[in-house]
Amino acid sequence: MTHSREKVAEEGPVLGPTGRPRHEFPEPPALTGHGPARIVSLCNQKGGVGKTTTTINLGASLAEYGRKVLVIDFDPQGALSAGLGADTHEVITIYDLLIGTVRDPFEAVQQTSIPGLDIIPANIDLSAAEVHLVNEVAREQTLARVLRRISDAYDVILIDCQPSLGLLTVNALSASHGVLIPLECEFFSLRGVALLVETIEKVQDRLNPAIQLDGILPTMFDARTLHAREVLERVVEAFDDKVLETVIGRTIKFPDASVAGVPIIQFAPEHAAAKAYRQLARELISRGAVA
Ligand SMILES: Nc1ncnc2c1ncn2[C@@H]1O[C@H](COP(=O)(O)OP(=O)(O)O)[C@@H](O)[C@H]1O
Ligand SMILES: [Mg+2]
Repeated sequence: MTHSREKVAEEGPVLGPTGRPRHEFPEPPALTGHGPARIVSLCNQKGGVGKTTTTINLGASLAEYGRKVLVIDFDPQGALSAGLGADTHEVITIYDLLIGTVRDPFEAVQQTSIPGLDIIPANIDLSAAEVHLVNEVAREQTLARVLRRISDAYDVILIDCQPSLGLLTVNALSASHGVLIPLECEFFSLRGVALLVETIEKVQDRLNPAIQLDGILPTMFDARTLHAREVLERVVEAFDDKVLETVIGRTIKFPDASVAGVPIIQFAPEHAAAKAYRQLARELISRGAVA
């Protein structure tokens, strides 16, 4: 990735695209045991910002580093399930677990083509879940109750949220230790983030005091445009060290990999974007956001 500031300054360290010193995040040590999982929601009520792509490739990268990873499709569109080649017809999905027709979450787990990466899929049925949950006691904590029965078996659980701040997303936040916000490097992207942060604070206040904002991940960054660099500058001004050092560049390889139904880290393992997602995994491990 090239960038105007990505050069050695007169004196001082090499700066990354966020304008801060560039680190080498170390290769993470192997884990000696597994679980209980840290649960992280990928959340942004704007669509098309890279939530699903990040869930797939971060999950796959963490699995490459020997972590036991479960990804949960929490969007009725089912893009995560499609992107990892999961079955969604006549199988048990997250919907069955939420409404309680199936009690054992392991019955919904499918393996993916990546060793160590499992998925609980979703399909359009999930769009009916909010209506079902409305009359439940502690309806916001339904997913948390489901995950309590499975989290010991994994090191990391990633929840791919739908683009809304409705009851499903509140369930995801209530079940999570951390939130990761993928943010497209476009001018209007910043608008919704204040509302999202407000929602996270409400959940923290009323439902899940322990939840943390793990980081904001700039995505679809095009270093060649002044616009993208300006947006990134504004994001860093606004969120300071909550902005992750890893930045995901814009590349056509993602749509290509989506069509192939595999993560980019498998589709084009040496591509800059694959390397960026591995770096994201190392950065989150070194920040303590995942095991
Ligand atoms: N860094 C990127 N560069 C180019 N295209 C991307 C990138 N990340 C994701 N995409 C593409 O953008 C579209 C939306 O991404 P997606 O991850 O599905 O967003 P979300 O889950 O937030 O709606 C998909 O077609 C995906 O392949
Ligand atoms: Mg998505």
